[in-house]
Amino acid sequence: MSYLKQVDPEIYEAIVGETNRQQSKLELIASENFVSEAVLEAAGGVMTNKYAEGYPGKRYYGGCEFVDVAEDLARERLKVLFGCEHANVQPHSGSQANMAVYFTVLKPGDKVMGLDLSCGGHLTHGHPINFSGFLFDFEGYQVDRETEVIDYDNLIERAKEVKPKMIMAGASAYPRFWDFEKIREACDACGAVMVVDIAHIAGLIAAGLHPSPIPYADFVTSTTHKTLRGPRGGVVMCKEQYAADLDRMVMPGIQGGPLMHIIAAKAVAFKEAATDEFKAYQKRIVDNASTLAECLKERGYRLVAGGTDTHLMLVSFIDVPKVTGRKVETALDKAGITVNKNTVPFDPEKPFVTSGIRIGTPAVTTRGMGTEEMKQIGDFIDRAIQNRRKDEILEGIAKEVAAFCERFPLYAERVEHPVS
Ligand SMILES: Cc1ncc(COP(=O)(O)O)c(C=O)c1O
Repeated sequence: MSYLKQVDPEIYEAIVGETNRQQSKLELIASENFVSEAVLEAAGGVMTNKYAEGYPGKRYYGGCEFVDVAEDLARERLKVLFGCEHANVQPHSGSQANMAVYFTVLKPGDKVMGLDLSCGGHLTHGHPINFSGFLFDFEGYQVDRETEVIDYDNLIERAKEVKPKMIMAGASAYPRFWDFEKIREACDACGAVMVVDIAHIAGLIAAGLHPSPIPYADFVTSTTHKTLRGPRGGVVMCKEQYAADLDRMVMPGIQGGPLMHIIAAKAVAFKEAATDEFKAYQKRIVDNASTLAECLKERGYRLVAGGTDTHLMLVSFIDVPKVTGRKVETALDKAGITVNKNTVPFDPEKPFVTSGIRIGTPAVTTRGMGTEEMKQIGDFIDRAIQNRRKDEILEGIAKEVAAFCERFPLYAERVEHPVS
């Protein structure tokens, strides 16, 4: 940091501010996590300097002998972690992982089925404002109105009618287990390619806490930075029969030079994810989520699909007059609690307003918080929502939250004081 302080004090201060924010607030965004110092070191290392278009052993540039080691390790570790046939670790993000798969299999205008955004799906699963929606003819599927879980029998019937070329499974905001065998059944009923986006649940799958799609899916895409706790980025896993086409589509199809520093950091994260310590961590994430969910339910909050099997839950205010996800997000933010507003199934509000919030436990669990702390967090959340219009009370809660967070140090040697 000392070089940065000298060369660019403005960016230095922004990073100090962000470090202190991460330390002093409760991070409950379900898609965020805190990487290890080892992952940070690799991500901030000299491999950022290297161009390495191509793949290990077959590059368009000289001098790739060490980055080849990093990429080979990342690919091999990912294959072992999930038991897949082929792995590509070059996608810069989860969105690019999905783009690579679509372009490998589909032609513009092809029919695809994906879970609607309002039911938990992701923008890249066919939303009209995203490239997936511009280019392909997506037909959304939904959760059941009553149970708020996916109605697989209905999906199978609709797949027979719609005859999509691909069915996309996976979500950004779905709190229950997926039944990948049923998704395969839907794909087989219409001859569709099966793709599962495990961005959110990758860590749980690696730890054996959520069923794996690998035996059923043609392609599995993921981000590496959510429950998997690696650097920001994407990966694709697939059956061997698609390997050559997929690799060509990632590079040169949609990307140029890979981010070798990030690929090195992915390799480190995959090594960490293969340990017993990581499995125990994932178990604590799930225990923490179910404790927090129970705590909120006891206080009268309505949870989508009745609760959670995973690392996240959705609190619905759809039946509460004048309360929106946006208002709750703002109130919690003032109280030092970071969540995101989120649509809930059949939400009448726009995505920028919403009728719900999404809460996840991966980041607070990384900090060492357990089920006792979840009860305390449930109390903070409840008090902040009840007092959402009273800024003084929210400021008081923020002070309590900061003191609570002090007990769980994060990046201790990185927390510094601003320059001035
Ligand atoms: C299910 C799912 N897929 C893809 C993505 C996109 O990942 P990225 O933000 O890295 O493009 C996300 C991100 O939230 C996601 O939740």
